[in-house]
Amino acid sequence: MPDFDYQLVVIGSGPGGYVAAIRAAQLGLKVAIVEKDATLGGTCLNVGCIPSKALLASTEHLHFARERFAAHGIIAKEISVDLGAMMKRKLEVVGKLTGGVGYLMKKHKIEVVKGFGKLADAHTVDVSAEGAAPRQLKTQNILIATGSVPIELPFLKFDRKRVINSDQGIALAEVPKSMLVIGAGAIGLELGSVWRRLGAEVTVVEFLPRIAAVGFDAETSKILQRNLEKLGMKFELNTKIESAQVSEKGVELKGSNAAGPVSFKADIVLVAVGRKPFTTGLELEKAGVKLTDRGRVAVNEHSQTSVPNIWAIGDVTDGPMLAHKAHEEAVAVAENMAGKPGHVNYQIIPGVIYTAPEAASVGLTEEEAKEKKLNVSVGKFSFTANGRAIAADTTDGFVKIIADAKTDKVLGAHIVASNASELIAETVLLMEFSGSSEDLARTIHAHPTMSEAVKEAALAVDGRMLSA
Ligand code: FAD
Ligand code: NAI
Repeated sequence: MPDFDYQLVVIGSGPGGYVAAIRAAQLGLKVAIVEKDATLGGTCLNVGCIPSKALLASTEHLHFARERFAAHGIIAKEISVDLGAMMKRKLEVVGKLTGGVGYLMKKHKIEVVKGFGKLADAHTVDVSAEGAAPRQLKTQNILIATGSVPIELPFLKFDRKRVINSDQGIALAEVPKSMLVIGAGAIGLELGSVWRRLGAEVTVVEFLPRIAAVGFDAETSKILQRNLEKLGMKFELNTKIESAQVSEKGVELKGSNAAGPVSFKADIVLVAVGRKPFTTGLELEKAGVKLTDRGRVAVNEHSQTSVPNIWAIGDVTDGPMLAHKAHEEAVAVAENMAGKPGHVNYQIIPGVIYTAPEAASVGLTEEEAKEKKLNVSVGKFSFTANGRAIAADTTDGFVKIIADAKTDKVLGAHIVASNASELIAETVLLMEFSGSSEDLARTIHAHPTMSEAVKEAALAVDGRMLSA
């Protein structure tokens, strides 16, 4: 057995990399983590999940203050925005969490190696950083957790001023008068909401026939779109953008829909058409690590690449690009490396869009159930009949439970609600335990809570709702 400096070197410190490093250290492995950026935490903590949610929270308060305070008897005559202060708070939130990852690395005695990592061979990671001597880390295992980067459209190169991606979309210094968003997925809808609430005219262009089309139930898309239109966002669906002109004054996009050619003008365009795996410069070929046809690192069910001691998780591998997917894979891969039976249940990964109301989904949609010709029973309950929602002024949305018609096993849950991201967890747990709608219907829920709507939707699966 050759002499290694480490049992595991992780490349990338996002929710995949840093969590795997912690779990491996807990299991007694000697671990180093390599990160090219100035702070730990990856896309999620630095420019993704966390800063976007900080801005969503701030602007939701703003919107509520402007639109709903009066109905609650709160008189706030002048409400104005200090965008600088809002961005400063966002950075403080990010700093707290990225600092927290640094603390966790120290606590678990994980060595943080700053710099760009690449493979020299199956047991060697070369690290280079400006102003520091290059290092060579000899290791038993390597974990690739290098994440993803925004996709660029070939005719619309990012200039980071007029043509932006989410990295700039969470950090604009002023509110644009008008913003085009290409892509009605999670980024387009979340950041579109932020800038609309701050006063920009926002038009979202999407080539599919509905918003939130990937992973969400069609009814969710409908209700979400209706609510976002109420906010003032405009949607151009079934529309393909084919060319663009960018000038000092703004952006003009040209394309087509069923009615013929279309064009749109705005100050700025946010391109949110998905992300692609980031493997640039890793030199995977030097160790013989293979990619899939779509450029992701190919792995087996244990997150093992084509080279047995090299593993890969998170956005750089197949599956939904979500922080909690990376996180779960991180725990499982560390356990597999340590000879324990790590496992991820890929059938039950919740997805959330943090608009107002939020949309959350887990398992099968009604459309998927139909496509698969499954015999299902569907229960639905609207928040307009939920006491807590009425009291809290958050009645937009519904809960839908999809259960197998014969066995009653819950196969999917879809929630649109102000706190759908939290409410979905109950159904995720139920599905982890292969629970039935009857289990949910007979579980006592505190009153008054929004979660009672989940119970009512479960009762509705066989038509015995008690509150509507
Ligand atoms: P990443 O978080 O991308 O981390 C990869 C890290 O590797 C980076 O720090 C990178 O600098 C580093 N790296 C790459 N190559 C090298 C190298 N060669 N050497 C050294 N370091 C390297 N997901 C959710 O679940 N919920 C959300 O609310 C959510 N919101 C999002 C909002 C936005 C605007 C965006 C862009 C994404 C959002 N996501 C969200 C997705 C989420 O951020 C990703 O799924 C998650 O970060 C993936 O984790 P990861 O560890 O695979 O990769
Ligand atoms: P996405 O894949 O969620 O949505 C992209 C949308 O753009 C799709 O609806 C697609 O049909 C559309 N599209 C693609 N090309 C187009 C074109 N040329 N013209 C018009 N429309 C086009 O990608 P998004 O929103 O960029 O997010 C990237 C990743 O980050 C996703 O995997 C997402 O899961 C993750 N993310 C997750 C969040 C969350 O969990 N709340 C928040 C933000 C991002």
